[in-house]
Amino acid sequence: MAGWWRKHVPINDEAIRHFTSEPVPYHLRRWWWCLGGTPAYLFLVMATTGILLTFYYVPRPPDAYYSVQRITQEIPFGWFIRSVHRWAANLMIVTVILHMMRVYFTGAYRCPRELNWMVGTGLLATTLIFGFTGYSLIYEQLSYWGVTVAANLTEHVPVLGEWLARFLRGGTQVGPTTWTRLYVLHIGVLPTLMTILLLLHFTFIRLHGVTPYRFPDEPEGKTYPFFPDHFLTEMAIGVFLMFLLTCLAIIFPARLGPMADPLVTPEHIKPEWYFYFTFRLLKLMGLTWAVLTLGFLFFVCLLWPFIDAAIRKYWPESELSVYVGVVAVVALCGLTVWEAVAG
Ligand code: HEM
Repeated sequence: MAGWWRKHVPINDEAIRHFTSEPVPYHLRRWWWCLGGTPAYLFLVMATTGILLTFYYVPRPPDAYYSVQRITQEIPFGWFIRSVHRWAANLMIVTVILHMMRVYFTGAYRCPRELNWMVGTGLLATTLIFGFTGYSLIYEQLSYWGVTVAANLTEHVPVLGEWLARFLRGGTQVGPTTWTRLYVLHIGVLPTLMTILLLLHFTFIRLHGVTPYRFPDEPEGKTYPFFPDHFLTEMAIGVFLMFLLTCLAIIFPARLGPMADPLVTPEHIKPEWYFYFTFRLLKLMGLTWAVLTLGFLFFVCLLWPFIDAAIRKYWPESELSVYVGVVAVVALCGLTVWEAVAG
């Protein structure tokens, strides 16, 4: 059998050893430095639980709501799979943001990793849109009105707005076609986009290596092999994450609010927590200014490595990036907490 395998899959031990024994810088032994592996793992959990959910989900209102109700109340372990999917989505957003902060505050986005930062910004946007489309699919009252607000926001995007809003709604009004589109985005377009971006991200990491850093207690230039050392560390983090997701799913299972009623606007429309800051901006500035501000901030974030390089060229000792980062984190947290408390 071994001979048959070697003949049909001509990869030898040497090639496997070479491919997997990439030396990893020693500082990646600390979890917060290799946080990027955590959202990657959570994405796999979401893909697996998501595929299981698609066996029962019906992407057309009002059956969408009834199918989620059936998954939660009747299908064996349906509530558990749904809860793990939901918690994994939330943790993925938290860990992507933490990973991005680690990359930002350690200056790991600088030359030659600018393009990888841009790929990362695409990953962040994809993760957030994943969350939005997933939350919308359940066809609760709040998720229905969330989609309505998002479509109205999209309409205010300069030039492409009308077209984008029509594309999202599948017509001039939010209706059954909207849910078919959200579904196609959620289970087809976004997973494909995420996979392509992740492959690009990992290729860049492999090409550049991880930004060097040395803690005072570490010898100069010390490394350890990717396999088995780093791989096993990531596996241990994976086991811990499964334990955490199981606990969260059991203690705080995913609930189901009242079904969407297009004729009754709820008193308080609330998106998921990761869009609280957007919602607060919208309340403060109105639709048009909120969309313009968010678009501007997105492009500043996307192009930040180049903006930062231009600033440092004329002001090499500048600590501006640190101040900008701190202001951004405080503003994001501030707006999120404000929206959570004020409602
Ligand atoms: C699904 C989301 C993401 C995944 C799975 C992911 C995965 C990873 C992994 C595994 C690494 C290797 C080092 C580490 O573990 O920290 C890494 C590095 C990196 N990531 Fe991400 N990442 C994601 C999102 C982002 C975002 C949102 C950004 C920034 C906008 C970003 C920018 C970078 C950069 C610049 C590096 C190189 C860091 C260095 O050289 O030290 N990534 N990413």
